[in-house]
Amino acid sequence: MKALIPAAGLGTRFLPATKAQPKEMLLVVDRPAIQYVVEEGLASDADEVVIINSREKKAIEDHFTPNPELVELLRARGKDAYADAVERVGNYNVSYVYQDEALGLGHAVRCAHEKTGDEPFYVLLGDVLVPDNKMLPRMQEVSDAHGGASVIAVMPVPDDQVSRFGVIAGAAVADDVWK
Ligand code: UTP
Repeated sequence: MKALIPAAGLGTRFLPATKAQPKEMLLVVDRPAIQYVVEEGLASDADEVVIINSREKKAIEDHFTPNPELVELLRARGKDAYADAVERVGNYNVSYVYQDEALGLGHAVRCAHEKTGDEPFYVLLGDVLVPDNKMLPRMQEVSDAHGGASVIAVMPVPDDQVSRFGVIAGAAVADDVWK
C-alpha cells in the first residue's frame, strides 16, 4: 500500500508567497507543511510515501535528501538535537514521480499509477494538517466496513466559507459517515 502526496500544483492562490517557494514548503511552526504530511503517511500502514512532484519544485526533494555534511557540522558544534532532526528527515522512505503539467489533482494521482498498480492507496493533501495520525486508520476502517469503498475525508466549514471548498451531499449511514 502506498501513500500518495500530490505536490505538483501551481499554488496560485498563495502568490506571491509561492513564486519561488513551493506551497508545500511553507513553514508551519518548525517544519515545512509537507513534512507533517509525509510523517502522517509513514505513521500509517503504507510501506512507501510517493510524492507526485513537478520538476520546478526541487526544494521539496532537497528537504528529504540526506545531508551528511550538515549533520557532521552540527554534531561538531554540539548541536545533536538539530543533527538528529536533519538526519531523520533525510532517511524517510520517500520516492518521487512527476507530473509534467499541472492538469489537476486527478491527473496528478494518475501519474503515480506505476507505483499503485491495481492496489488501494491513500492520497494525502498538504493543505489540511490532521493531528494525531488518526485519519488514515479511520478511513481504512470505513472502507473495510463498506466493501472496500473509496473514502473521502471531509470537514465542516463555516457557511461563509463553503464556496471555497468542494462539498458533499448524501445519506447518512452512520454518525459520521455518508454515502
Ligand atoms: P490545490 O487545489 O491546492 O491546487 O491542490 P494548487 O494548484 O496547489 O493551488 P492553486 O489552485 O493554484 O491555488 C491540492 C494539492 O494537489 C496538488 C497541489 O500541489 C496540492 O498539494 N496538485 C494540484 C497537483 O499535484 N497537481 C495539480 O495539477 C494540481
